[in-house]
Amino acid sequence: VITYQDDLDGVGEGGLVGFFDGWPTHPSPAEHLRLLRQSDRITLALDGQRVVGFATAITDGVLSAYIPLLEVLPANRGAGIGRELVRRLMAQLDDVYMVDLCCDEELVGFYESLGLRRAVAMIRRNYAAQAGGRSGPDLDT
Ligand SMILES: CC(C)(COP(=O)(O)OP(=O)(O)OC[C@H]1O[C@@H](n2cnc3c(N)ncnc32)[C@H](O)[C@@H]1OP(=O)(O)O)[C@@H](O)C(=O)NCCC(=O)NCCS
Repeated sequence: VITYQDDLDGVGEGGLVGFFDGWPTHPSPAEHLRLLRQSDRITLALDGQRVVGFATAITDGVLSAYIPLLEVLPANRGAGIGRELVRRLMAQLDDVYMVDLCCDEELVGFYESLGLRRAVAMIRRNYAAQAGGRSGPDLDT
């Protein structure tokens, strides 16, 4: 049975294993916990004590919010968890004027079905900081 919560109650590093699938370098569970703590809004999907999906949002609390991260563990995909995470996170941002996110082309339909529409995004990635906590000169635009 999958349960959902919008806080970190009962969740520790040990419950955050297997995320950032496919990232060449990725945050440790400790860094993952830190980014969840420091996000303005979160939603988690849990199988018992184990987190199987998460979504985060950063917001100024007045006009705007950004959704940087959404992931469901590979073994749990295709069961509606991703959709429910987005729905619940969006519900927490109901009073915000603009909610933005970036995604790959193949996910446009997924987000459109959740009420978002396509726009153009501009991004920068600092791969030296991909695992979190660090900064470096290797900027790749
Ligand atoms: C994207 C992601 C969170 C979706 O989670 P999920 O739990 O598998 O999604 P759901 O089961 O709720 O799927 C909802 C719908 O989106 C579709 N969908 C999900 N992931 C998809 C993908 N990568 N490509 C195309 N369609 C996708 C599903 O087919 C499903 O459609 P249906 O309702 O018509 O059957 C998950 O695939 C994931 O973690 N991917 C890697 C990280 C990532 O890409 N995050 C998004 C960053 S913008």
